[in-house]
Amino acid sequence: MASKAVMKFSPATRALLVQLAQVRTAQTAAAPATQKQTNLKKFEIYRWNPEKPGDKPKIQTYSVDLNECGPMVLDGLIKIKNEIDQTLTFRRSCREGICGSCAMNIDGTNTLACLYKINDSPSKPVKIYPLPHMYVVKDLVPDMNNFYAQYKSIEPYLKKKDVKDSDIGKTSYLQSVEDRAKLDGLYECILCACCSTSCPSYWWNSDKYLGPAVLMQAYRWMIDSRDDFTEERLAMMEDGYSVYRCHTIMNCTKTCPKGLNPGRAIGEIKKLMMSYNKEKVAQK
Ligand code: SF4
Ligand code: SF4
Ligand code: FES
Repeated sequence: MASKAVMKFSPATRALLVQLAQVRTAQTAAAPATQKQTNLKKFEIYRWNPEKPGDKPKIQTYSVDLNECGPMVLDGLIKIKNEIDQTLTFRRSCREGICGSCAMNIDGTNTLACLYKINDSPSKPVKIYPLPHMYVVKDLVPDMNNFYAQYKSIEPYLKKKDVKDSDIGKTSYLQSVEDRAKLDGLYECILCACCSTSCPSYWWNSDKYLGPAVLMQAYRWMIDSRDDFTEERLAMMEDGYSVYRCHTIMNCTKTCPKGLNPGRAIGEIKKLMMSYNKEKVAQK
C-alpha cells in the first residue's frame, strides 16, 4: 500500500507558518483592484468627405489605447472605426498582405497597413495619408481606376497563337522547372500600387507612363515561356512614355512591401526593347 509522506513541524515553526498565512490574507484583502495601465497613442489621419458640401481635406487626431489594440496600423484603424468614429473610411480585406487593398502612406512610406507595425516611439504619432498623387475617393481610399485600366491594357493573361477559341481549356501548356523559376519575384505582386505611387515619373505622367507595378506584370508575361506574344507586347510600348519615362530612381523597389524589384523588371524590358525583331511585328 502506498504510504503518505507526513511533514512534521516544531510548535515554533507551526506558529510562524500560521502568522505568515495571516499576513498574506490581510495583504490580499487590503490590495486595491489592479488598475489596467493605459498606453495612449495618437493617430493623425487624413480625412476628406466629398459628400459633405464644402468639406476641405484635414488631419484628424484620434487616441488609441495600445494595450487594447493589435500591433499593426490596420488594427488601430479598425479599432478607431469600430469604437471611436464609424465615418473613417479605408479599404482592407485579407489583413495579411495578400489582397493589396490596405495600401496607404504611413509615417511617410507607401506600405500595407496590415503589415506595418504601429511605431513604438512614445512621442511620435502615427501619420496616415492615402497613397500619394492619386485622386481621393474618400479619406484613405484612392481612386484606382486609372491604375486598373493600365493593368488591363497590357493584357495580363496567357496568349497563344494558332489556338482556336473552341480549343481553349482543353490542353495544359507545360513549362520546364527552369522556365517556371523565371517568374519568381514577379508573380507574387499583389497590385497594391505602393510602388507606382512612390515613383516621381508616375506622379507627373500617370496618364501615359505605365508605372512600375504594371510594367513588372507586362514583363512577367513577356518572359513566360508559354506565351506567344512577347514581340507584340514589346511593340505596344514603343513610345516615349509607356516604359521610357522610368529614370531608374528605384523608389519603387525601395518601397515594395512584398520585397519585389519592379525597377529591375523595367530594366529588363528596356533590354528586350533594344533587341526584339521590330520588322517581324510590323509585317503582321
Ligand atoms: S511590385 Fe510590390 S509595391 Fe508594386 S504593386 Fe506589386 S506588390 Fe505592390
Ligand atoms: S525605377 Fe523607374 S519606376 Fe521605379 S521609381 Fe524609379 S522611375 Fe519610377
Ligand atoms: S488587408 Fe489585404 S493586404 Fe492589407
